[in-house]
Amino acid sequence: MDALVSPDVFPAARRYAYLNAASVALMPKMAADAALDWQEDLATRGTVHFDEEAEAKVFDDLRQAAAGLLGAQPDEIAGGSNASEALCSVAWALSPGADRNVVSARVDHPTTVYPWSRVARLTGCDVRLAPDKDGIIDPNELMGLIDDRTSAVCVSHVQYSTGQRLDLAALAEVAHSHGAILVVDATQSAGAVPIDVVAEDIDVLVASGYKWLCGPFGAAILFVRRDLHDKLEPGLVGWRSAEQVWDFRADRLEWAPSARRFEFGTMAYGCAIGLATATEYLLEISIERIHRYNLALTDRLVEGLAELGAQLVSLPVEDQQTSIVTVRFPGQDQGRVARRLNEEEVVVSPRIGAIRLSPHLYNTADDIDRALETLKEILKEDET
Ligand SMILES: Cc1ncc(COP(=O)(O)O)c(C=O)c1O
Repeated sequence: MDALVSPDVFPAARRYAYLNAASVALMPKMAADAALDWQEDLATRGTVHFDEEAEAKVFDDLRQAAAGLLGAQPDEIAGGSNASEALCSVAWALSPGADRNVVSARVDHPTTVYPWSRVARLTGCDVRLAPDKDGIIDPNELMGLIDDRTSAVCVSHVQYSTGQRLDLAALAEVAHSHGAILVVDATQSAGAVPIDVVAEDIDVLVASGYKWLCGPFGAAILFVRRDLHDKLEPGLVGWRSAEQVWDFRADRLEWAPSARRFEFGTMAYGCAIGLATATEYLLEISIERIHRYNLALTDRLVEGLAELGAQLVSLPVEDQQTSIVTVRFPGQDQGRVARRLNEEEVVVSPRIGAIRLSPHLYNTADDIDRALETLKEILKEDET
């Protein structure tokens, strides 16, 4: 199978078999350059090139790119620093009361659940977490927790530990039939899995930028469906939340009439530029193509792993349709295997007592074969 992208765009991919996008992806060179150039210019010239218009453009560009990614409109997007911050603001905006509940999953990422747990400590709402079997959620059990007292269903589109992908349209249908909204953490899917907020009927979506979107730390996107703008008062607020940002009127709080109300303060703007540039690059290739390519790499990986005796913790690739693969090698110290792989520059993560491998667009069939060859040697080491 041919490589999808030139290694010139991801220079580190020449050296490493970098199978760790579910932790932090490699950044395309033009995105890293854009972020660093901005940072350098600010550090050395302050506001000389960075006036109010330039500041507005940073966010306009990010909103435009994120809207293209999600099938949304730019006024439904806010830029932010990370998914945790965005979800906190949304959870406080919703603040379900004592007689209400929020539905999520026990195995989900803490960032997806904690904001609701924090709100629950104040309001007394119930946070219902669907159980799992060795990291895998039964979607019917999850949907079975939703009732007429549910204010929000908040889950990761793709689970960080196993790569399990949830059917968002099905979840939205059940949530909406009970008057609840669907809040999606797409940190493990945006950039690798096609998302259409209209077709899938998603109400709110957050995604940090440094995983599958190939952006830097310090930038994230938040989608809020237009009909919710007036209903949600962000939990995090600052001068940039206002309709007239440059008025500086502290004696009144008039929210921006769009998702922009969820932007609130000065942030690492260079990171937003880096994320917008990376997102535009992915869109030029097409997320659908990246998705298909990543799944082909994953098929090859899973086949090779099975030959080496690995037990799949993830669902089979054809069921979960993501390129996060979590495996265990029976009788082996999984932490040691993960550590040895990293020492050999096959970059992976230890997770939930297993090993998580997550190829992305810059990987090639050679990377997969190298990872498998290296694993074969490492597994032998333990026997000696
Ligand atoms: C599903 C999910 N949400 C959120 C995060 C992290 O959020 P933040 O970027 O706010 O640190 C991760 C990181 O692993 C994740 O996998």
